[in-house]
Amino acid sequence: MPLRAILIAAALLLAACSRAPDAGVAQQITELHAQVDALQKAQAQAAQMQAPKAELGQQMLNLQIRHARLWAAGENQNWLLAQFQLAELNEALDDVVAENGDAAALQPQRLADVLPMMMKPAVSRLRDAIDNHDTQAFESAYDGLSAACSGCHRIADHGFLVIQRPKTPVLDNLKAVP
Ligand code: HEC
Repeated sequence: MPLRAILIAAALLLAACSRAPDAGVAQQITELHAQVDALQKAQAQAAQMQAPKAELGQQMLNLQIRHARLWAAGENQNWLLAQFQLAELNEALDDVVAENGDAAALQPQRLADVLPMMMKPAVSRLRDAIDNHDTQAFESAYDGLSAACSGCHRIADHGFLVIQRPKTPVLDNLKAVP
């Protein structure tokens, strides 16, 4: 029975009880109180349960797509799209910190410390290049970003995961040419 229905029933029973006290009713009220307590406890437990965290590998696939799309946008001098893709990439990086800040792969270092230190300077160089509509600066900052990605892979004993400039678009159904 939903909590509201139980509370209404309890109120009705209490009203009835005040008119004609009766052992049966008192018993029902006690049972209802017990049910309300149990429901409140279950609700509190449900509120404490958090959504399951995203896996690091899954979050990396997301980063890979953002990284590739950013290149396509910048190379086509589609600066608005590039700005958007960089913001999404930055958000995806923040999500990695939020959900996998203590990832085993980086231990004894904390991913939550290492990631911002390695990635944020590269992100801000890209932001400047995009703001200035500067293709050359964009390309150089982009290589810096890729090197930072690969750098973390090395620290995490995944040095075989080398990130580079994409040669072909992953998905070409998002128009990159402005
Ligand atoms: C804080 C360290 C760190 C940073 C920064 C980082 N990675 Fe990773 N990445 C990892 C780790 C650790 C793995 C291995 C994950 C696993 O075991 O599933 C990984 C795996 C990957 C994979 C392989 C995923 C797969 O399942 O095939 C790709 C692709 C990837 N990263 C892309 C990137 C890109 C692109 C960037 C930069 C924009 C980046 N990573 C930045 C730590 C990092």
